Amino acid sequence: MAKKLRIGIIGTGGIAGAHMKAYKTFDDVEIVGGADIVPGKARAFLDRWELPDAKAFESAEDLIKNVEMDGVSVCTYNTQHCGPVVMALNAGLHVQCEKPMSFTLDEGIEMVRAAKRNNRMLTIGFQPRYSPVRQSIDRIIQSGEIGKVYYVQSGGGRRNGIPGSTFVHADKAGYGCLGDIGCYSIDECMHAIGYPRPLTVSAMATDYFGKNPKYWKDAENFDVDDFSTAFIRCEGGVTFIFRQSWAMHADSIGDTLWLGTEGGIKILNGFQYANAPTRVRLFRDIEGSQIDSVVQPIIPFDAYEDPNKVDIFRAKVRDFCDAIKENRPAPIPGEEILYNQAICDGIYRSSKLGKEVEINIPEDLIRK
Ligand SMILES: NC(=O)c1ccc[n+]([C@@H]2O[C@H](COP(=O)([O-])OP(=O)(O)OC[C@H]3O[C@@H](n4cnc5c(N)ncnc54)[C@H](O)[C@@H]3O)[C@@H](O)[C@H]2O)c1
Repeated sequence: MAKKLRIGIIGTGGIAGAHMKAYKTFDDVEIVGGADIVPGKARAFLDRWELPDAKAFESAEDLIKNVEMDGVSVCTYNTQHCGPVVMALNAGLHVQCEKPMSFTLDEGIEMVRAAKRNNRMLTIGFQPRYSPVRQSIDRIIQSGEIGKVYYVQSGGGRRNGIPGSTFVHADKAGYGCLGDIGCYSIDECMHAIGYPRPLTVSAMATDYFGKNPKYWKDAENFDVDDFSTAFIRCEGGVTFIFRQSWAMHADSIGDTLWLGTEGGIKILNGFQYANAPTRVRLFRDIEGSQIDSVVQPIIPFDAYEDPNKVDIFRAKVRDFCDAIKENRPAPIPGEEILYNQAICDGIYRSSKLGKEVEINIPEDLIRK
């Protein structure tokens, strides 16, 4: 039998369980170790998953030094992504790092440079990339059907969805809503149009709900954003209007929208569409007639027999494993997600300073 892939998990909290659940469904993968800074936590995690032979450590460094591995999942909280990722890459391991990429842009730069220097894969965990609906939108936009896209806006948002746990503490998560769900919106909007380079950001982040005991049980200790909005200028004359919310007095902050010179795509948001088979609309002009079409979902033919067939989280973890085995580039490359990180970092800085800021990506990391 061919050698199994040897994988370790760094940070054995909440999302590590989802990584483990996926890895455990693969016959060609073995979880050989785990690390968590909380004493005993990695051992308890591995035991819970019935892996007595997997080795547990209380630091990423010890895991990396003592266990032979092909790759690791880094599942630490946001402010602790950079250290373990760079350490693993320097040790010659491939890395799947959870989203958001990091807290600061500088950390993201360090991570991407470590991947390049060591010729190892750094992929970032944005599993919605594997959603059939999302892929369908990406394909339509990338086909050129809607022409040159000059305006994008993010949509969705939660009415009452502050998640708690380590997500609401700045020393651990860095960002609040922005790092939790905002980075997904940025990826959805920007990946579809090839991630144009962000140039400037003017943003405002607020915490009116997290800081109010009427809406959040631990308001005293809440110290991150629960809402943010931004105007982002990108290369090539693209405007990106970003907004995202953990809590608000509305059903939605609005639709997700791409406007192109030959057409537009909208993802309808709001409660009334929650159960619709598709919320995606395509707008075009054909010989002076204005045409509005419904983009039907494409569901794999056997999805009705096995609901796990459309498991986007499992798909992301599988793709990481296959990329290692096939010696392929990172499925969701660190270099690309650095632009996502640059936007998050810009939103944070601009909001703190109360004015527009420039985004400076080093020359060697600007994507050609
Ligand atoms: N892709 C998704 O759907 C998804 C969902 C939830 C969370 N996440 C992301 O996963 C990450 C972790 O979130 P979580 O909810 O699991 O957090 P968590 O706090 O439950 O778990 C993080 C764990 O990392 C450990 N840790 C921290 N620093 C460490 C270090 N240097 N070395 C080893 N262990 C360390 C902590 O002790 C903790 O057990 C975050 O970046 C979050 O944004 C992704």
